[in-house]
Amino acid sequence: MKISGTGSVLPKKVVTNDMLSEFLDTSDAWIYPRTGVKSRHVISDERLEEMAIEAARKALEDASMQASELDFIICSNVVNEYITPQLSCIIQGGIGANCPCIDINCACAGFIYALHLAESFYKAGSVKNVLIVCAEEPTRMTDWTDRRTCVLFGDGAGAAVLTPGDNIKGFSLSAASATDKLYQYRTLQPTPYITKQEQDVPLQMKGQDVFKFAVKASSSDITKVLREQGVSPDEVDHFLLHQANLRIIQTIESFLEQPAYKFPVNIEDHGNSSSSCCPILLDECRRQGRFKPGDKIVISAFGAGFVSGAVLLEW
Ligand code: UT7
Repeated sequence: MKISGTGSVLPKKVVTNDMLSEFLDTSDAWIYPRTGVKSRHVISDERLEEMAIEAARKALEDASMQASELDFIICSNVVNEYITPQLSCIIQGGIGANCPCIDINCACAGFIYALHLAESFYKAGSVKNVLIVCAEEPTRMTDWTDRRTCVLFGDGAGAAVLTPGDNIKGFSLSAASATDKLYQYRTLQPTPYITKQEQDVPLQMKGQDVFKFAVKASSSDITKVLREQGVSPDEVDHFLLHQANLRIIQTIESFLEQPAYKFPVNIEDHGNSSSSCCPILLDECRRQGRFKPGDKIVISAFGAGFVSGAVLLEW
């Protein structure tokens, strides 16, 4: 397939590090050098599904496509206000499409997994035009009294329209179960039969373990997909990496021995918006005119699970 249109939406409320230090024992002096984040967009009165629909509309407009021409919608989402119906079905109604749709939860790696699904459906001959929407509100998952997690995240939605083509060159996906490193629990409705203990636990993270996994998994996914496609890192024009921590991005830069200008970032004023990071960054780079036809682009992300993946595209 090829990416024919992109779109993104951020909540209007901007929260700076200084604003966080008004109610948390933290500071810009700690957050910025440790993470690369100065501010983030945080949901206030917006609804995630409305942001997802708007991002989808922008991507369709960019691709000059009507919603009725879509054959499939894939939504990547970790959490939202609905347990059911699935967000993809809400997006389908919102944009006026009539195709099948599915939600996936691959945490921050969701965009790569969604691209892989779309490409697989296309190769199986079952779809032509696919809409991917990543919509995430991780700021509703964290404990806002926990300085170790809440300072990292922001919210947002990013979308891409895929059409027939051969610009997606290859993937590398991986998973390694480590459920105690990055997780959140919620309680379900009680029944007369439940005897086990349940509790609501906001997002918990072993930051240094996640950091090590991220560097290892992303470096290995990127190396593997490039090797399989016979492309050297030097030949890649842009590396779009998950915006979790600028130090993670810089460590992968050094591992690949590539210059910083090949790694566009928006973490400074977006934070980590989970699976939305990659499609938002893709949309921003595209609208800034950073990509030329024929450019080689690697997109790579990792997240809770752990899961990770990388894709090689030719623009
Ligand atoms: O999408 C995937 C999501 N997550 C990630 O990618 C996270 C990956 N990990 C990281 O980015 C880093 O591990 C963090 C930024 C989360 C933490 O940085 P670190 O350099 O690993 O710090 P640390 O956890 O070792 O904490 C060092 C100190 C601790 O104090 P003590 O125990 O040494 O006195 C923390 O309590 O820094 C303290 N600390 C803070 N201080 C001020 C932790 N968070 C904060 C904070 N403000 N926000």
